[in-house]
Amino acid sequence: MPSEITRREALSGAGVGAALGVLSTILPGSAFAAGKSEDNAVDLLKLPALPYPDDALEPVIDKETVKIHHGKHFAGYIAGLNKNLEALAKARESGKFDDIKCISKDLAFNASGVVLHWIYFSTIGPVSSKAPTGKLLELINRDFGSFETFWKQFAAATKTVEASGWGVLAWEPFSKKLMIMQAEKHQNLTSWGAMPLMVCDVWEHAYYLKYQNRRPEYVDNFAKIINWPKVEERLVTYCSI
Ligand SMILES: [Fe+2]
Repeated sequence: MPSEITRREALSGAGVGAALGVLSTILPGSAFAAGKSEDNAVDLLKLPALPYPDDALEPVIDKETVKIHHGKHFAGYIAGLNKNLEALAKARESGKFDDIKCISKDLAFNASGVVLHWIYFSTIGPVSSKAPTGKLLELINRDFGSFETFWKQFAAATKTVEASGWGVLAWEPFSKKLMIMQAEKHQNLTSWGAMPLMVCDVWEHAYYLKYQNRRPEYVDNFAKIINWPKVEERLVTYCSI
């Protein structure tokens, strides 16, 4: 883990600073509030504690999967991001950018992995309201016709992500509309500028212990643990709707 000075230097670096500036504004607030600084930015470089016990998502997601997913995989992306930022700080210091292509590729992978896991763990929970309400429901009805139609499209997109990836409900800020995307790995097939609101992790590490190759069953059950008020909080807090 780098020192605070190194972190600040890394975060203020050209290019990378811009990328993380975007990331810092799209992270959830209260559930993972421990890492927030005075200017309301979230510390992406430390693993936040889960906002619920690791058996709280049973029976949809088993305790062991949550423990490994959060403590090993999410932690791994954060460690990777720290390493990438340190490498960039060293490159700037030495003026040698021979490895910039490799570091940039790793940085996109790890930073995207960190952001998506922040959203994933903070927009699911033991208590689901089953369906969105308020502004989020209004926009879902406007952009997808109904909540039922939205969920059919979201589930279909998520179940068919090729290999490892995500189903993503996002806010597209240019046309000011909601959209559903697939993401391969963490960072492929995404749309520039789109703000992720709710995500479903379909890497095998998210469901394999309990569901093995039955990804569709996991996605269907995932609907039972979405914390829709948190999703709406992201919409209202971080999007200019
Ligand atoms: Fe994951």
